Amino acid sequence: MISDADDLERRMDGFTKAPQALPWRERRALAHDVGRALRAGRSPAEVHNVLAFLAWDDQWMVRKAVADLLTVVPEDSYDIFLKELLADSHGSVRNAAENARKDRDRAFRQERQAAREARHVGELVNQLREHGEDVAQQAVAVGHRLYKLLSKAMIHDLRNLLWPLQANVERLQLQPKASTAAVARIDQIARQLAKFVEAAEAYAGDIPLEREPQKLKDVLQEASQLASEGVARAGLDPKSVHVMVDVPAGLRVEMARQTLVAAFANLIKNSYEAYRDHAGQLRPGRIVIETQQTKGQVIILVTDSGKGISDEDLKYLLEFVPGRRDKTKPLSTGFGLPIANRFIEAHDGSLAIISQLGKGTKVRIKLPTTQWRL
Ligand SMILES: Nc1ncnc2c1ncn2[C@@H]1O[C@H](COP(=O)(O)OP(=O)(O)OP(=O)(O)O)[C@@H](O)[C@H]1O
Ligand SMILES: [Mg+2]
Repeated sequence: MISDADDLERRMDGFTKAPQALPWRERRALAHDVGRALRAGRSPAEVHNVLAFLAWDDQWMVRKAVADLLTVVPEDSYDIFLKELLADSHGSVRNAAENARKDRDRAFRQERQAAREARHVGELVNQLREHGEDVAQQAVAVGHRLYKLLSKAMIHDLRNLLWPLQANVERLQLQPKASTAAVARIDQIARQLAKFVEAAEAYAGDIPLEREPQKLKDVLQEASQLASEGVARAGLDPKSVHVMVDVPAGLRVEMARQTLVAAFANLIKNSYEAYRDHAGQLRPGRIVIETQQTKGQVIILVTDSGKGISDEDLKYLLEFVPGRRDKTKPLSTGFGLPIANRFIEAHDGSLAIISQLGKGTKVRIKLPTTQWRL
């Protein structure tokens, strides 16, 4: 069976070889489909070349379709096409380009603002440390309780809306006359929403106080299995990436097992996703999970050679404030790292990330092997 992604790649490839062979309505449909793929987090290899043809098309409606998708084109294509389409001979194309520019600038400003606010929260907690670590921790705990209070009501309402939405999507899927593309899009939005609600709930949820000694190797293997299932649910083939769990079989750590399984699963899933290529598939790669033991603590390292994280993004992520979605990932909630950090901190542990853009990422989790604060 040819998937939509394969089909689009094939059409794009055919188009770049003979651009004139395609009637203009099909060229416009191609621009729409490229936009849809970009919005779903895919970035087909030929995207720049195809858009370069379409942005200079004789038909203004084709050029307008390109201007409409300027909000989602990759950074390196954006400047070139924006400049061209802002100077277009047709007013509708210029307007569409101008609107896309405004949208993109607004999104950029919001992101910068969110990053500043996240840093500000971190600074406030640091200032409180002058009054002692306990005071700082209590302030964080109060902040979290407020978040929990507010989000609980919201999550409840969202769930009540989500259930009938999902049930009706299922009914529509069975109707032969329903537009499959529209139903698929609604289904995708409902899934995104469900994942978001689930993540917000996990972040706000209580962490069990009971701790039991657990074999760390089993915990990490279970987490890795969970991550691989999550990756498969997102339509990626986890078999492309080999996970190596190199942990002594006898090493035990006291923990609330499911909490740490979930934390590690989030981290391992991120490492899988770091191998996503332009077409949105996983390229072959490796994730190495290993441990180092020092007195009173165990260090767990999760290392991948995936796409890495820029310094600027890393600074933001290390504030562990939820909600910053990665637009290149189709089902990103931005809750994965904050949840992992919260669950690890509840075990008196810490989470650090070292990363280099284009090279890969190492996540270092420290957990004490004795003495738990309850
Ligand atoms: N190992 C990694 N390699 C590259 N980027 C990473 C890695 N871990 C995290 N990131 C970046 O940090 C972002 C935030 O991660 P986080 O797990 O909090 O949310 P998410 O993965 O976007 O959403 P979700 O976890 O709900 O799927 C990711 O989207 C990704 O851009
Ligand atoms: Mg994640």
